[in-house]
Amino acid sequence: MKKIAFFDTKPYDKRSFEEVNENFGFEISYFKTHLNKDTVELTDGFDAICAFVNDKLDKVVLDHLQEHGIELVALRCAGYNNVDLRHAYERVHVLRVPSYSPYSVAEHAMALISALNRKTHRAYYRTRDGNFSIEGLMGFDLHGKTAGVIGTGKIGQCLISILKGYGMRVLAFDLYPNLEYAKNVGIEYTDLETLYKESDVISLHCPLTPETHYMINKETIGMMKPGVLLINTGRGQLINTLALIKGLKSGIIGGAGLDVYEEEAKYFFEDFSNSAIGDDVLARLMTFPNVLITSHQAFFTREALQSIAETTLQNVRDFFDDNALKNEICYQCGGTCVKPGKKRCF
Ligand code: NAI
Repeated sequence: MKKIAFFDTKPYDKRSFEEVNENFGFEISYFKTHLNKDTVELTDGFDAICAFVNDKLDKVVLDHLQEHGIELVALRCAGYNNVDLRHAYERVHVLRVPSYSPYSVAEHAMALISALNRKTHRAYYRTRDGNFSIEGLMGFDLHGKTAGVIGTGKIGQCLISILKGYGMRVLAFDLYPNLEYAKNVGIEYTDLETLYKESDVISLHCPLTPETHYMINKETIGMMKPGVLLINTGRGQLINTLALIKGLKSGIIGGAGLDVYEEEAKYFFEDFSNSAIGDDVLARLMTFPNVLITSHQAFFTREALQSIAETTLQNVRDFFDDNALKNEICYQCGGTCVKPGKKRCF
């Protein structure tokens, strides 16, 4: 029976994986800690590692895995920016869950847009406090406004369907525009500058890469329409948070809905309600009434968790049964060039 070391475990992870593992029969040890260079020795004696978004698979960790004969890292997430893929090549196979429920993330992005616009998060506290004034809670009709969607992959396309349902004009940017899709759903691909200038709402759905790192910065915020709502359910480092704070202070950013934060690893998924937040940037962000932060929960639906567990364990089974690794990540292109029947995609 193959042994899997499971990192950054929360009770809901364990519940969903235990249920699905009844059909797989792996021996899974659940560790609460993150996987990083300080905890990597916990992996000794296992056959595979199961890691999540804030586990850090850098050179030290990957070398350790290789030295100890651990050939497989099964990520239970879609993003893989936390793995040094180039270093992993020829050392460890890295598989992921490329798609589980894009609806989960897109619906959460829409929830952030809607709550920020209509200030539902503030109304909730007011009415609970017996304050029924609506002064300061005015929003705007989304109908007829322009939404800019950056990254029109699985999640971006789900969000676009929702936005079209609201009657919004949609501008999109993607490195690889899908023109046929755009024609079918009635959206326009455009350059980033036009998207920044014309959008009333901007939502980020591209991966974090060297190219997209800090794509939202002082300069790009400077191009945006005053009052724009900025939504990030992608990765924290797509946004330079200090520039965002300046944008919020100046009023250019009318609201920010953030499911991810560039320094989230220490805080997100944990309970800090009895201690001080040491991260002054995060603390400052939390002071704005027009910033709505959720703790990387966009993926968190029943359907997504079940699908993540099924695909992750199937990935592990395929690896040990020597099947084609359709979910192996290519360090060059991010995984779209995997050829069936080959363990490596190039
Ligand atoms: P996907 O791979 O289906 O789509 C990504 C799209 O971004 C592709 O169309 C790609 O061509 C495009 N792209 C790549 N580089 C780009 C660039 N430089 N500029 C503009 N577009 C670019 O991925 P999917 O499933 O839609 O996920 C998107 C991202 O959402 C993931 O990379 C991940 O970081 C994040 N995510 C967040 C979750 C959460 O719970 N907050 C859960 C799942 C994913």
